[in-house]
Amino acid sequence: MQKNDNACSPETLAAQALGWIDEQTRAVVPPLHVSTTFERAADNSFQAGRSYARADSPAFNQPEALIAMLEDGADALVFASGMAAATCVFHLLAPGDHAVAPRVMYWALRDWLAKSSQLDVTFVDAEVEAFRQALIPGRTRLVWIETPANPLWDVTDIEAVSALAHRAGARVAVDSTVATPVFTRPLALGADLVMHSATKYLNGHSDVVAGALVAREIDSHWQRLKTLRAHLGGIPGPFECYLLVRGMRTLFPRVRLAAASALELAQRLQAHPKIAQVLYPGLPEFPGHELAVRQMHGGFGAMLSIRVGGGENAAIALAARLRLWKRATSLGGVESLVEHRASVEGPDSPCPRDLLRLSVGIENVDDLYADLVQALS
Ligand SMILES: Cc1ncc(COP(=O)(O)O)c(C=O)c1O
Repeated sequence: MQKNDNACSPETLAAQALGWIDEQTRAVVPPLHVSTTFERAADNSFQAGRSYARADSPAFNQPEALIAMLEDGADALVFASGMAAATCVFHLLAPGDHAVAPRVMYWALRDWLAKSSQLDVTFVDAEVEAFRQALIPGRTRLVWIETPANPLWDVTDIEAVSALAHRAGARVAVDSTVATPVFTRPLALGADLVMHSATKYLNGHSDVVAGALVAREIDSHWQRLKTLRAHLGGIPGPFECYLLVRGMRTLFPRVRLAAASALELAQRLQAHPKIAQVLYPGLPEFPGHELAVRQMHGGFGAMLSIRVGGGENAAIALAARLRLWKRATSLGGVESLVEHRASVEGPDSPCPRDLLRLSVGIENVDDLYADLVQALS
């Protein structure tokens, strides 16, 4: 594969999917490799360096190189889902090891950590002081950050928490799914790993389930993660890899447009008499706003939540009256979605029952607002 070595901006490299050209055909969209196995030479070696697709499918090459570029990382690994990527990081710890994770975070990962992981996990608020108190020097192995965090959008100071964690001898991994590489580069702020549910913004079209990890450096820990992925087997198929690359070509314009609409909607909804509160890091009233201004560059993401005056029933009824917004889980696609999160997250959730989560897509922002207004009236 001919590679583009020019030092271009991430936007340019993303649009051209790194400018890779297939040497055999000169195709600008590289071919899909579907083979699960690779021929061994007569001298018993694997001349192309590959033996079996679970460990080293060529389908991984382009999405991994592109994601590593987007995060300014040394290397990336793609997975079958965001959960496969996240749990792989925790599976490298031994049963009983201590980890620190946010109280407000993607609920399925919190659920697994609390109930099934066999790890000793301390769940904390997003403040740096809470991380400081939870860290046990020499014992804490991993600090997990999600920022902005689902579904209240708490913002965590990656730089400060990474410095504390490193002093205590722990690694730092950041779920940057909602921030996206467009707005935040956790590795540049000191994190060791970045995780994405690539199902969301990286793919962006609600038609692929995938995940990714990116490393700041290629060390023995990263090599162990790579081996563990092959052992656990949570890999994406070649078609998912192809769709993921196709989605990432438009990452920057999609995410910037959606985030601009999210800010516009947050400002308009804040003034609506039937909305009790709007949670969005881009609003000056939001508790994490100043930190978000420092840590997020060029936008605050395209996720917001609204608390509906009238409580849970009013929130569910509001969602039911929406025509344009789709009532569905997930986020980060080109179509706007609405969800009553408390119904999904169950009794342990920190999510208020009057809250609706909005994933803003790339539709006309006036259409999106008009639909909310008709549903509120
Ligand atoms: C912030 C965040 N992290 C992780 C995940 C898990 O990703 P996946 O559904 O791709 O396994 C999700 C899914 O909703 C998410 O929103």
